[in-house]
Amino acid sequence: MKKILLSLFAMMLAMCAAAEDGHQLWLRYDTLNQAKVSANRHSPTIDIAVNELKTFASGQQITLKIDRSLPDDEGFNLQTDSKQRIVISARRDIGLLYGAYSLLERQHLSAANGQCQLSSVPARNAPYYNLRLLNHWDNLDGSIERGYAGESIFEWFHLDKNLIKEYARANASIGINGSVLNNVNASPKILTTDYLNEIKTIADILRPYGIRVYLSINFASPMALGDTPTADPLDSGVAAWWKKKADEIYRLIPDFGGFLVKANSEGQPGPGDYHRTHAEGANMLADALQPHGGIVMWRCFVYATNHVGEDRVMQAVSEFKPLEGQFRSNVILQTKNGPLDFQPREPYSPIFDQMKLTPNMVELQITQEYLGQSRHLVYLGPLWQEFFSFVNPKSLRGIAGVANIGKDRNWCGHHFSQANWYAFGRLAWNPFEESEDIARDWVALTFANGKQSNLEVLVTLMQNSREACVNYMMPLGLHHIFEFDHHYGPCPGGTRPDVPTVWCPAHYDQADSLGVGFDRTTTTGTGATAQYREPYAQMYNSLETCPEELLLWFHHVPWTYRMKNGQTLWQNLQAKYNEGVGEVDRMIYIWQQLRPQIDDQRWREVNDRLQHQLENAREWRNVCLDYYGSFAEKSAKE
Ligand code: GCU
Repeated sequence: MKKILLSLFAMMLAMCAAAEDGHQLWLRYDTLNQAKVSANRHSPTIDIAVNELKTFASGQQITLKIDRSLPDDEGFNLQTDSKQRIVISARRDIGLLYGAYSLLERQHLSAANGQCQLSSVPARNAPYYNLRLLNHWDNLDGSIERGYAGESIFEWFHLDKNLIKEYARANASIGINGSVLNNVNASPKILTTDYLNEIKTIADILRPYGIRVYLSINFASPMALGDTPTADPLDSGVAAWWKKKADEIYRLIPDFGGFLVKANSEGQPGPGDYHRTHAEGANMLADALQPHGGIVMWRCFVYATNHVGEDRVMQAVSEFKPLEGQFRSNVILQTKNGPLDFQPREPYSPIFDQMKLTPNMVELQITQEYLGQSRHLVYLGPLWQEFFSFVNPKSLRGIAGVANIGKDRNWCGHHFSQANWYAFGRLAWNPFEESEDIARDWVALTFANGKQSNLEVLVTLMQNSREACVNYMMPLGLHHIFEFDHHYGPCPGGTRPDVPTVWCPAHYDQADSLGVGFDRTTTTGTGATAQYREPYAQMYNSLETCPEELLLWFHHVPWTYRMKNGQTLWQNLQAKYNEGVGEVDRMIYIWQQLRPQIDDQRWREVNDRLQHQLENAREWRNVCLDYYGSFAEKSAKE
């Protein structure tokens, strides 16, 4: 009897251990302890690689080899030798760790590669970008700006080292090599010695996983901390303060990456407060970091400071274009993919066309601020791939993603939001990958649990989910018609006396009895189309050639305008909203069919969220069609 009870207890324990709460992300490997692994060198990084393979690789002989003749990057070679042993070789230790994760992923994917048609696993040998960064918008009090998955995993003065290690491992497994730990709306306190000591602890945990730590800084820090009477970048006392601060940081964290700066934007201080340029501000910081090899990532998300009245989407180019050639070599501009603000669909930001001499990196938003947050299933791979179809990856110096990670057990709030973290890492490693292939791998790694499965429908569901979101929220180029502040629900035509016009939906949809949309043409509008390179400048400028998916972004269009399919604009708008809702209905149908194939907890949690998404999608459609209909139908009667 005792024996039976004991074995029952053991079974229960095993079941608990296997609880599918999503915490394991895409790293759902069984402990096998089969592989014989050797390495020709030892280091904390190589030791992690050896351990991962010993524990999780299937029974093989695996050799890890540091080979100084290989290219000096973070890449690796993965080969089988004449005796069928696997050899992973790399110039740097981190290359071996990346090689180890790649091997584990390949093994897992081939196990799942049954009826589910997997793409051939891409040969991921060396990363395309040196800078593959997560940007955490985490505040010092544990809250996260635009965070939808609980509190920050960086709990200052009570750091959960295990959690941070798990975070490091997940990032290393997809090749992310830098973390900006705090919000771009930065507290000056992050630079005080107490916090720097904590940051050192984090850096020490992340380092063996190849991840460098960076910080967002408040431009007025020396003044805000009471050390200088000004924050003027040309003041010698201010420059000296930053140099000393940089020295202090590097004493603690020798491989510190650098600073990310939001200056003169949305109330943040900056060089403009002293009539200095962004270049003067960035260069002062760059000079402080330069002796240590650090960089400054200077954000181009600026508007409404000295450009009052100018179309918001044009202001970054107006501000930065005249500064071409004036930045130090360790300054990189960091620009959001679109010129407005992470909308479900935007045209690309024309600053990528305009700045030829200054390196630029793209900032993508993994957290779904404007795409249903952690409540909606929206796979962002297609959105990012769309960006790369307009902006040549070659023209960029790096890639940053605003993280969607929090303390929620499943890290991201929604099980499918994990796919966006994963896809970001994959695209940072190789921006030419197809979002569909990435989705297919993620599905196999996350839901097939190393077994054969038939989950291809999920890949299609994910691929369609972004367009569905565009359609039920803001089709045909509509934008920024969100509820104020939290950016969750619909608020077409919204205004608020206490809110500047450039933040009001009414400013963006411009709906009236004649039509809807923002005229950005050079003939009758703001002229934003002229900031694009050809052929886009002309294409966007003309109503006839502007892609319909961006029509209302660039044009104010009559309700009765004939679309390419013969419908009027108003009819087409209704059709699009209905299509969006219909797609969510279909997502639910597919998810219902998959019930036998998905573990209970994750199935239920996703199902709940899908039901919620459907309610929200209907609300978006109804509110928007009511509002726009009030104009469109009036215009039809006139
Ligand atoms: C958006 C977002 C803010 C954020 C800002 C930024 O406006 O809503 O929360 O601070 O972008 O990127 O700086």
